[in-house]
Amino acid sequence: MERLQKVIAASGYASRRKAEELILNGKVYVNGEKITELGTKVSGNDDIVIDGVHLTKQDYVYYLLNKPRGIISSAKDEHNRTTVVDLINTNKRIYPIGRLDYDTTGLIILTNDGELTNLLSHPSNHVPKKYVAKLNRAIQKEDLIKLKEGIIVDGIKCIPTRVKLKKTDIEKDYSIVEITIIEGRNHIIKNIFKELGYLVDKLSRVEYAFLTTEGLKSGEYRELSIKEVKRLYEEKYHN
Ligand code: URA
Repeated sequence: MERLQKVIAASGYASRRKAEELILNGKVYVNGEKITELGTKVSGNDDIVIDGVHLTKQDYVYYLLNKPRGIISSAKDEHNRTTVVDLINTNKRIYPIGRLDYDTTGLIILTNDGELTNLLSHPSNHVPKKYVAKLNRAIQKEDLIKLKEGIIVDGIKCIPTRVKLKKTDIEKDYSIVEITIIEGRNHIIKNIFKELGYLVDKLSRVEYAFLTTEGLKSGEYRELSIKEVKRLYEEKYHN
């Protein structure tokens, strides 16, 4: 492991002093994460990107996982619980793009391509994400209308691009709602329904951009094709 500024300088991209400036100015990303601390240590496997330029060449891998319940959506867990990365058989340093809650199932992409991670995670990139939510009680008509018009969560309005009531069981008192949103705040779906007075008992992400979990059982994964990766890069998803 070497200090980040040393690795940048050794690559010839910039002098040590300039490298330090770039780090402090938030221009340097390591594995998709902005690094502003000068002492950060990196290894040869880490993907360093400065102003969109990859410093280290490496083979990129892209996986689409159908995440089971009870799995953490990060590369590492401080309590040693199983993470999405543990489910993929690879020796590459991969990490998930975005997060799904511990109890949320469904589609999550894992990669070691920091550029794609930045592109897809950027707030201006409106990637549509479709969720299926099972609510703790039957949804009222007026709440469905409110939902379609948009719900304010933490002061910011979230307007779903599509809402579809899949099922309401009056006797058992629950509803299943399909909802597509373009934003990526943590717990956003649960918080939207919380604002309306419902709890989400089950949540699954069934689509991400043009990708679906079709053909993948819970815990199964597949590699993305080159075509799919290209499409993720090219489709900008700007409204
Ligand atoms: N919204 C949530 O509430 N949870 C998720 O896991 C994803 C979106």
